[in-house]
Amino acid sequence: MINQPIGALLIQNELKIVLRRSLTILDTPAEGYVARVICIANQKGGVGKTTTSVNLSASLAHRGRKVLLVDLDPQGNASSGLGLKKHEYQEANIYHVLIGEKTIADIRLPTSQERLTVAPATPDLVGAEIELVDAQRREYRLREAIAAVASEYDYVLIDCPPSLGLLTLNALAAANTFLVPLQCEYYALEGLSQLLTTAGLVKKNINPELRIEGILLTMFAASNNLSHQVVSEIQTHFGDKVFKAIIPRNVRLSEAPSHGQSIIAYEPKSVGALKYLELADELDKRVFADIQPPVFSEGPNA
Ligand SMILES: Nc1ncnc2c1ncn2[C@@H]1O[C@H](COP(=O)(O)OP(=O)(O)OP(=O)(O)O)[C@@H](O)[C@H]1O
Ligand SMILES: [Mg+2]
Repeated sequence: MINQPIGALLIQNELKIVLRRSLTILDTPAEGYVARVICIANQKGGVGKTTTSVNLSASLAHRGRKVLLVDLDPQGNASSGLGLKKHEYQEANIYHVLIGEKTIADIRLPTSQERLTVAPATPDLVGAEIELVDAQRREYRLREAIAAVASEYDYVLIDCPPSLGLLTLNALAAANTFLVPLQCEYYALEGLSQLLTTAGLVKKNINPELRIEGILLTMFAASNNLSHQVVSEIQTHFGDKVFKAIIPRNVRLSEAPSHGQSIIAYEPKSVGALKYLELADELDKRVFADIQPPVFSEGPNA
């Protein structure tokens, strides 16, 4: 290094600065970027919607993205699974947002994970479906609420309940895309056509930009032949709509919520954590490839 001509060193350093700056620009949302809103939906119960919402959110935040997770399930599992305490949101949660009493900015709460915020839910949310029956623009309530904060985030993820009622309709109306977790079991595809039909109707009548983000295979058991069959059938059927990352059955994933932690905080070296990080990587690369970064310019005298 000592013998290297000073000019070459300067050029190298200059190059490093330019490269670093270009990389930062490529990795930063374009100005005016508003969050990608992704709804995690499947009306089938227990397929891994909440596990995916929580751990994909945490994995994206771990990558440096700012994430809002909207708990839209009256079971409130995403809220409690991330360690929020009921008394903190009993009087201010997503139910109050849907009925128009509060905004998301009023009710969101930070989590122990940096960059991850939650709009929590309680069983009160069941009431919203009934109270909104005659309300005007009832299927746009969540969309309008998210629009007010979307510019503050890179991602907004919505954890849906296991039904195709007004709550899931609000989520599909608010979303850019929907992600469908499918359990690797014999009846995996059961109900999928109903979900796709509903999404099609929402796209036609309420939210023309709605697209499918992808199908996520969950609870894969490598030792089970059936799991392998289901994976290959779904991959053949849906091609590149299936995420390459496949979530294995992993006991750490089921333990984490009882500790009020995502898998990234609870057991970062577990195979469950690694696979959700892999999913976040796959998704994030795809989402940010969609965005045209501003052309980097040093100005006329550069
Ligand atoms: N990959 C996994 N490995 C092991 N257990 C898992 C995995 N994914 C989810 N589980 C467990 O399976 C159960 C159902 O998962 P989860 O709550 O995420 O499903 P869901 O689709 O959100 O359910 P619901 O329809 O009731 O909202 C939970 O107890 C969860 O801890
Ligand atoms: Mg759930």
